[in-house]
Amino acid sequence: MIKIGALVSGGGTNLQAIIDACESGYIDGKVVSVVSSKDGVYALERAKKHSIEGCVINKKMYGDDTDDVLIKHFQDREVDLIVLAGYMTILSEKFVNAFKNRIMNIHPALIPSFCGDGFYGLHVHEAALKKGVKISGATVHFVSPITDGGPIILQKAVEVRDDDTPETLQKRIMEEAEWKIFPEAIKLFAENKLRVENDIVRRSDK
Ligand code: GAR
Repeated sequence: MIKIGALVSGGGTNLQAIIDACESGYIDGKVVSVVSSKDGVYALERAKKHSIEGCVINKKMYGDDTDDVLIKHFQDREVDLIVLAGYMTILSEKFVNAFKNRIMNIHPALIPSFCGDGFYGLHVHEAALKKGVKISGATVHFVSPITDGGPIILQKAVEVRDDDTPETLQKRIMEEAEWKIFPEAIKLFAENKLRVENDIVRRSDK
């Protein structure tokens, strides 16, 4: 069973999908710690409801030492994998290198579209609608020092409708893609079925 650490900044619906997948046995793993970049977010309530440790670690509290504090936090808990479940802060190269190919992020678009600095949360869906794309979706990838640039693990496409608002598109992408492919990618990791070769993810079950 793998130990999972989670970084969050908001409502935590992806975190919930991961906790549920662990509790049902779909993922052979356990979320052992939830760290938020913000106080008072609902993701921390979700952790509490499932008796999972929750805390806040951010720049306001630790300044330039923040990523060192985060590294120590997760190393002390001996986590096998860190999931960015709606985490709206850019991690330093030092943090990423401390857990190389052991950090996963969910991005609410089909990378390489609508990704990189400034593309997070509803902004991603606003940009997709502005461009008039007919499909969007979600991507789970390993985190590298380049924002949204790490090796892609899973992607799922979702249709864009003419009457979509950023909010309706976000909801459909969460329901049809994010809450499915994030747990699935973690399941594959827990089963040791993911290999990264030359920045490309290969699956040993395919
Ligand atoms: C999700 O749509 C996630 O893909 C996105 O923020 C939302 C968080 O929702 N993440 C990013 O934009 C990261 N760049 P949640 O807190 O309910 O999981």
